[in-house]
Amino acid sequence: ALLDEAERIAREFEYPADQVQRGVDEYINQSNEGLAKENTTLSQIPTFVTAVPNGTEKGLYLAVDLGGTNFRVCSVQLHGDTTFNLTQSKIMIPRELMASGTSKDLFLFLARQIEAFLRIHHNEHFEAHLRRPGDATNKENMFDLGFTFSFPVRQLGINSGTLIRWTKGFNIPDAVGHDVCALLQSAIDELYLPVRVAALVNDTVGTLMARSYTSPGETGTFLGAIFGTGTNGAYVEKLDKITKLQTMEGAHYDTSTGEMVINAEWGSFDNHLSVLPSTVFDRELDADSNNPGVQMFEKRVSGMFLGEILRRALLAMHQDPALGLFKPSKTSKVICPENSGLYRQWGLDTSLLSLVEADKSPHMAEMKTAMYDHLKIENLSDVECKAVKILVHAIGKRAARLSAVPLAAILIHSGKLQTENMVDVGVDGSLVEFYPNFDGYIREALRSVSKVGEAGEKKVRIGISKDGSGVGAALIALVASKDETLKS
Ligand code: BG6
Ligand code: GLC
Repeated sequence: ALLDEAERIAREFEYPADQVQRGVDEYINQSNEGLAKENTTLSQIPTFVTAVPNGTEKGLYLAVDLGGTNFRVCSVQLHGDTTFNLTQSKIMIPRELMASGTSKDLFLFLARQIEAFLRIHHNEHFEAHLRRPGDATNKENMFDLGFTFSFPVRQLGINSGTLIRWTKGFNIPDAVGHDVCALLQSAIDELYLPVRVAALVNDTVGTLMARSYTSPGETGTFLGAIFGTGTNGAYVEKLDKITKLQTMEGAHYDTSTGEMVINAEWGSFDNHLSVLPSTVFDRELDADSNNPGVQMFEKRVSGMFLGEILRRALLAMHQDPALGLFKPSKTSKVICPENSGLYRQWGLDTSLLSLVEADKSPHMAEMKTAMYDHLKIENLSDVECKAVKILVHAIGKRAARLSAVPLAAILIHSGKLQTENMVDVGVDGSLVEFYPNFDGYIREALRSVSKVGEAGEKKVRIGISKDGSGVGAALIALVASKDETLKS
């Protein structure tokens, strides 16, 4: 009965080819709407980045990265021959800074980490140029910094943008509507650091740029995507298709390439659920989240949420007396203590799904260890393990097949599958990196889409751009630092 019920729930997570196709068609509609006007479900944010790198860029730049699993500070030496050196430190953001407290607390924390990083890795330059209260700023001696800020931001130029909304569990209301570059710069100034925030970068844009720098082809990289804590993508769009740019007052950009990178913010594709699949677990997760009704695509796809979907499904089975999941019986000596994450919202981390999916051994020893490490559940029977595995597989596979929707839609919309022999896509994030065969399921779904098919899918080259957004942010800071109009 336990396995039958697991199979029944798993079927609710099936996302067959005809639904993928409907998703793609609707994505194309919503993305066109987003290019034409503001405040649409798909934000389609113009990033003011109008060219992708070709590998010859040079110089030393700083980058900070907020919005993934870790906050990172790095310095990047670009050698100009498609290679670079990256020095970085990763820091966990204290939870209380993410969801309570003020934006001032958060940005001062970030500035302090930049200071600590400079003292450790670039102390000579740092000491020589540390500003004193009252000093005039000397731009020559400043580090240019690219700020990877992976949340939806309304940009008006390459180095400014106001926060539209928080996502992925961050919630600091007083920052919404404010320029996040200015907030970071004033925290930096408060500590008199010789650092100038030169560029604002979404992680997807950084990934796109980094991939394009390290593996330049004839046409550069077309799309950068993140499948990690959150999910999103950025791609190169023709300027004349971004019709809303004409109505954005104060927007300034270079038109010479005829292109601009668009940050799709696809986490909010189809917030009104016209085509997205919904199980009772998806609906409950959303209702209990701190941002109900938004990021509806992301809530079915990305790492922050898959663990919570699984937890809710397992809890429902555990609470069903007929099933006896995680309850001791004649055949199971399982122990599920009261303080197990099973009973707590967000208590199940998505990395557990990757571990469970990866264990193909007959008695699932690694999975059993992982269930203890993550949920304190001990002595699972093999049947209980199988039930968990069935759900994990279904939830992960649906996420990967859903991920094919924006990819296919953007490829079709661009016409590139007709005109190019190969289209390069850079990806990053814990899910695509660690969930077994995530990209394989994406590819399977891509093949089923009518205007992609097997031939189109073969043209898509997907490459991991690990920690790429730091390099990408440095590249954008470089472009921005050369743009004299921004040096105010
Ligand atoms: C990192 C990138 O490698 O991946 C970040 O540098 C990005 O910019 C992150 O946000 C996404 O993955 P995760 O799993 O950390 O959310
Ligand atoms: C969320 C953010 C988006 C980011 C993505 C991946 O969807 O809104 O800006 O790119 O997560 O980190």
